[in-house]
Amino acid sequence: MSDQYSQPVRAVVLAAGQGKRIKSVVPKILHDVLGKPILKRVLDALEYVKPEHIHMVIGHASEQVRAFLSANEATTPYSTHVQEPQLGTGHAVMQVVPALDKFKGILLVTVGDTPLLGKDVLKNLLANHIESQSCITILSARVEDPKNYGRIVRSKDGNVLRIVEDKDANAEEKLIDEVNAAIYCLNWPDVEPGLAKLTNNNKQEEYYLTDLVGWAVGHGKKVSAFIANDWRELAGINTRLELAEAARHLRDKTIDRLALESGVTIVDPESTWIAPEVSIGQETVILPGCYITGSVVIGRGCTIGPHTVISGPCFVGDESHIVQSHVVNSRIGSQCRVGPFAHLREQAVIDDNCRVGNFVEVKKSEVGRGTNISHLSYIGDAFLGDEVNIGAGTITANYDRISGRKSETRLADGASTGSNSVLVAPVSVGAGAMVAAGTVITRDVPAGALAVGRARQDNKEGWVERCKRTARDMTPLPEPS
Ligand code: UD1
Ligand code: CA
Repeated sequence: MSDQYSQPVRAVVLAAGQGKRIKSVVPKILHDVLGKPILKRVLDALEYVKPEHIHMVIGHASEQVRAFLSANEATTPYSTHVQEPQLGTGHAVMQVVPALDKFKGILLVTVGDTPLLGKDVLKNLLANHIESQSCITILSARVEDPKNYGRIVRSKDGNVLRIVEDKDANAEEKLIDEVNAAIYCLNWPDVEPGLAKLTNNNKQEEYYLTDLVGWAVGHGKKVSAFIANDWRELAGINTRLELAEAARHLRDKTIDRLALESGVTIVDPESTWIAPEVSIGQETVILPGCYITGSVVIGRGCTIGPHTVISGPCFVGDESHIVQSHVVNSRIGSQCRVGPFAHLREQAVIDDNCRVGNFVEVKKSEVGRGTNISHLSYIGDAFLGDEVNIGAGTITANYDRISGRKSETRLADGASTGSNSVLVAPVSVGAGAMVAAGTVITRDVPAGALAVGRARQDNKEGWVERCKRTARDMTPLPEPS
């Protein structure tokens, strides 16, 4: 696993805190930043570094965090360690100690609330730690506004002495502009005695992990700080305003990449939200008001928007147009026209050259090449062949309320439905067959047949005139006495 490093590397993620300042019933680290929880963004950055194991310290709302972890697909093995009560970041790391029994190597400690953590910064931190042969390497950054971050206190000749928390800092220390990202490389078990000696003699009465630095310096161990280029990558989210800022920053970086490197036109960057996971081909135009997140691939020469949501995993082929629509977990081929006001979800798979028009919902269905569903339809659990034409207002009645079961509808190549037809599933319509307008289909339709199932029309000649005359001649009834 971590053969790439000269020593074994394990990660520790501190994710037990409540995050009081975010004022939420949802744990802070599970809040969403452009389509992904903060913690997922941290874990993705860690996966890139390939530690042999991830120790997750959880505590507050641990059931919610556990549920997230078990749903999260990750390749690195992990274990959870409950910290109850939460007595500080140092106390959090103490919870992992029993599991580190015979471990000898580097502990890469990170906090769970840094959604902008880049892939390379952790790699660089590790490389720097190994190269400098330090016992502790702190990831730090220089900032304009040190806010409530811990400050890195250095000696006159520049050596790291300790970290002082904002709440405990004196006026002079508060002026220090190098801050602690709360991400460290620690040599284990070298720092173990220091961890055991942490106290909570501070303003917050917490066991600070940051005090380990002063301990190490006092015991003649080498401590360095690796200064990251971009402090924003290390920003810890404490409030909903900071959450919004982080999302905006990710959005801006993504838009810069798409516009400058991929040749995508983004008409209004201010109103366009695209997550970093999204890739978009050259000459595609993103119109104002789009929100595109998750693992999404959009081809070349497409027009997306205005006001379109694409929520991955999704794929859109070349030269397709999606207007004012909502697309979730679906695939759209090349040269398709979708919307305005279409809704594709739960693995709708639309082949090339299709039209999915206004007020059309397609759910968990496959739609063949050149097929049109142009207006006001619901297509659910259906398989439509090539060149099928679905008339306005066609509904696949896929749900049986009594059994709770969903059934499939099949329309073979070249079949068509007239306006306002209902296909009561399970049912199939053969190749080239036609369903007449207003028909309710309850039995399979053979290839080439016409299926009509509606009351026969009866024209009553002269009926309107007769009715009007009767109404005119009618004398009003006398008022009741
Ligand atoms: C911490 C650092 C500070 C640094 C800042 C960077 C300490 C004492 N301070 O402060 O120097 O500048 O991060 O963002 O370490 N957590 C636990 N258990 C606890 C307390 C916290 O697991 O008992 C977890 C939280 O879930 C969170 C992380 O540790 O993911 C950081 O906690 P937080 O309270 O946000 O620390 P800060 O005050 O930001
Ligand atoms: Ca924090």
